[in-house]
Amino acid sequence: MKQVDAKVSGAQSKRQLYDELNRALAALLVGEGDLIANLANTSALLWQFVPDINWAGFYLLKNNELVLGPFHGKPACTRIAIGKGVCGTAALRRETIVVPNVHEFAGHIACDTASNSEIVVPLIRNQDLLGVLDIDSPLLAHFDEDDRRGLEEVARTLMDSLGTVEAD
Ligand code: SME
Repeated sequence: MKQVDAKVSGAQSKRQLYDELNRALAALLVGEGDLIANLANTSALLWQFVPDINWAGFYLLKNNELVLGPFHGKPACTRIAIGKGVCGTAALRRETIVVPNVHEFAGHIACDTASNSEIVVPLIRNQDLLGVLDIDSPLLAHFDEDDRRGLEEVARTLMDSLGTVEAD
């Protein structure tokens, strides 16, 4: 598991942590509208801010399947069918899925055996599904309602950043 940066590992509540993360994210993405650049920086920021995680990144919808995008953590499976695994299920339902114990989620796809809990947030822009944000933790029941709220805000900030600048 990665070490959490000392400056973000203090006795903060999760809400404070996500407030700070979302402020930092908005500042980081301002003036940049490129999808891959912004996903890459967002996964780096999540890795820096969110404690006790072993994977943070994105799968992007391409030809009706999810394809691995920018991430931090160990190498992961590259393609996930819509409706399969936690990621494919969140994409199909177009809603956030919080999984307290991945071993009890039927069809969970194990990319890193260290993962025990997971949260997946769909990325939706103008009613179109672009992909999903996926975060894994080695701790059981690591993600809760505060994570859901904070990470859905991350997804909104990210979606709002796209196309804000003319593409080169
Ligand atoms: N566990 C995910 C697969 C992606 S990895 O966790 C990075 C799933 O069941 O969809």
